[in-house]
Amino acid sequence: MLLSCVDVGTYAAPDVTGSRVPKIAMKLPQQRLKGRVALITGASRGIGLAIAQSLAAEGCHLILTGRTIGTLEKTARKLSSGKIRALAKICDVRDPHAVRALGHIIQKQFRRLDILINNAGIAHPNLPAAKLPYHMWRSVIDTNLTGTFLVTREMLPLMRCGGTIVNNLSIAATQVFAGSSAYNASKHGALGFTDTLREELREKGIRVIALMPGATDTDIWDTLWPKAPRRKMMSSETIAHALIAALALPENSTMEQLTIAPTGGAL
Ligand SMILES: NC(=O)c1ccc[n+]([C@@H]2O[C@H](COP(=O)([O-])OP(=O)(O)OC[C@H]3O[C@@H](n4cnc5c(N)ncnc54)[C@H](OP(=O)(O)O)[C@@H]3O)[C@@H](O)[C@H]2O)c1
Repeated sequence: MLLSCVDVGTYAAPDVTGSRVPKIAMKLPQQRLKGRVALITGASRGIGLAIAQSLAAEGCHLILTGRTIGTLEKTARKLSSGKIRALAKICDVRDPHAVRALGHIIQKQFRRLDILINNAGIAHPNLPAAKLPYHMWRSVIDTNLTGTFLVTREMLPLMRCGGTIVNNLSIAATQVFAGSSAYNASKHGALGFTDTLREELREKGIRVIALMPGATDTDIWDTLWPKAPRRKMMSSETIAHALIAALALPENSTMEQLTIAPTGGAL
């Protein structure tokens, strides 16, 4: 099915032959994200914060969520400008009521959502499955897998042709690491959800990107492996940079999987 939401022409290719060339229906890459409304879950630190900063630099309006309002409000104040609106809201992605309330706020204040970044996530201490407490299993699955489903389901009615959903998974969505059974299971499950969603949304013209970073230097390692060699890891800004390039592709093209790994290899 041919999509009907291709960017309208603002950019004509130079005519080298002298013949009349039709206007290319494209916007310049650097203008594609300007004015878009983006929701980032887990925007208080780490990869979510870096993505929020990069989207602000591209001219997006932002809704920043997490469980710690103080940090989110501080970030929202920093990123707001005359042209950019940044709203901070508490939302625990495990709680369907909180997610519903967030959907209502976005509907009321922005009327639509163009970019959804499902980023909120947690890890658990390195433990074999035989020793993993049930409450740790539950909170990792509830946050990384069920949270991604809940937020996506709530935001979909606000999204239109040309919108993009990014699920921040991990290389743990396709590889496994001993001692990380709940984390691996949550990310493998979230990849299954992401791939299904992409097929369901093709006809609507909504792009779905599986973001699969390798080791990135953030606080999540304090839980997973506190003594992990941070200097070998990528920065959150690197992940954000790569994602912006994927988001700026023409709307009829999707970077379906975006895997980024440290050049020096695994830890
Ligand atoms: N760092 C890596 O090496 C790496 C690699 C691949 C993928 N990832 C993925 O990247 C994502 C971000 O992780 P990060 O490395 O940036 O870790 P981080 O620095 O610990 O950030 C996690 C973010 O998620 C939020 N969060 C956690 N539980 C939440 C909940 N129930 N509801 C709402 N927000 C919640 C946190 O804010 P609050 O605590 O304030 O709620 C925080 O903003 C995760 O999905 C992670 O699996 C990380």
